[in-house]
Amino acid sequence: MTRVGVWLVGARGSVATTAVVGTAAVRAGLVEQTGLVTGLPEFAELGLPEVADLVFGGHDVVASDPRKRVELLADAGVLPAELGRAVADDVAAAEAEVRDGVEVRDGGGPQRADVERISHDLDDFRSRHGLDTVVVVNVAATEPHREPAPTDASWALLSAALDLPGTPLPASSLYACAALLTGCPFVDFTPSSGARLPALAELAVDRGVAHAGSDGKTGETLVKSVLAAMFVRRALRVRSWSGTNLLGGGDGAALAEPGRAAAKAASKARVLTDVLGHPVDGGVHIHHVADLGQWKTAWDHIGFEGFLGTRMSLQFTWQGCDSALAAPLVLDLARLIAIAPTGGPVPELGFFFKDPVGTGPADLASQFDALVAWARAAAR
Ligand SMILES: NC(=O)c1ccc[n+]([C@@H]2O[C@H](COP(=O)([O-])OP(=O)(O)OC[C@H]3O[C@@H](n4cnc5c(N)ncnc54)[C@H](O)[C@@H]3O)[C@@H](O)[C@H]2O)c1
Repeated sequence: MTRVGVWLVGARGSVATTAVVGTAAVRAGLVEQTGLVTGLPEFAELGLPEVADLVFGGHDVVASDPRKRVELLADAGVLPAELGRAVADDVAAAEAEVRDGVEVRDGGGPQRADVERISHDLDDFRSRHGLDTVVVVNVAATEPHREPAPTDASWALLSAALDLPGTPLPASSLYACAALLTGCPFVDFTPSSGARLPALAELAVDRGVAHAGSDGKTGETLVKSVLAAMFVRRALRVRSWSGTNLLGGGDGAALAEPGRAAAKAASKARVLTDVLGHPVDGGVHIHHVADLGQWKTAWDHIGFEGFLGTRMSLQFTWQGCDSALAAPLVLDLARLIAIAPTGGPVPELGFFFKDPVGTGPADLASQFDALVAWARAAAR
């Protein structure tokens, strides 16, 4: 039996807290596995690590009372208040494993020491709990858009840059780097670009450590990846696709900053071109509406053309509870990447992401088939 640790970067955020509460609730038999893809029959006989056996730790940069965080999620309607109270001990146990995260400031010193501190925290967590694998999942707040730097190009250049002051890498790069150096599979659930550097991809292959990302596909993009395929299969020409997203919560607040919203919009844009095979008119807009709390609303308008050039349109409205959609996917990803037989990118986990690493199909049905085939082979 493989003992798996899940190290959450952004451990005190909404997605992370919901993942910890959900795991404890599943362990106690208080909830069904609704929303967990790995709870589907296709994954039943594969011997994946049990949800109930996952052990949590993580990094964060803010201090907060775990009981208060769970209460806030309950107030927001993400989970029933009595469920939060029932699993308070498990939430406290996970909180006891949260360590100070890394904040990057301009003008800081060399960043090698940050990577070494993160690595030490991961090694310590693994050895104290006797874990076979620690999966690091980045669920920290979205970072601002970052222009590529020459040192991103190779591990030799990036590694040398870690010893120099004045070339600050974003925190997401440092967490990914530390995870790969300590042999921890790394999952990037965020749209931040810092973990997607060619140098880190090279490091993952070199060290034989699996990685996957980026940006969990939980709402508008999930629907897009199904609907776009419908238009393709019916030979209907999509002319325009415009989406407006109203986000509440901490993520919505972070994305209110134009630089961070740009990172999210870029990762949301990819699916249409990939599935349709051509660019379309229209764009993705993100607005922060604090009043929505944990809920997000996506309103999409699709203009398309049928036989004889007849113009038609489709509109949909998706109202999702952010953390309830994301948290089970974090557990799925941890269970799956823990059994990855080889290092480097795992494109078959693209089913879970808006902007998957590597190459693979972009429509959801094909991605699901690829995922199941990969998981069956990996489990052998
Ligand atoms: N909820 C979804 O459906 C969904 C879907 C796709 C992607 N995501 C991504 O998941 C991430 C988390 O979302 P959330 O709703 O939990 O956000 P949140 O704001 O509730 O939590 C983010 C946490 O990250 C912490 N953090 C910030 N900088 C950090 C650093 N340098 N090191 C460690 N921790 C740091 C914050 O203190 C906070 O506790 C976001 O990047 C979001 O874009 C969420």
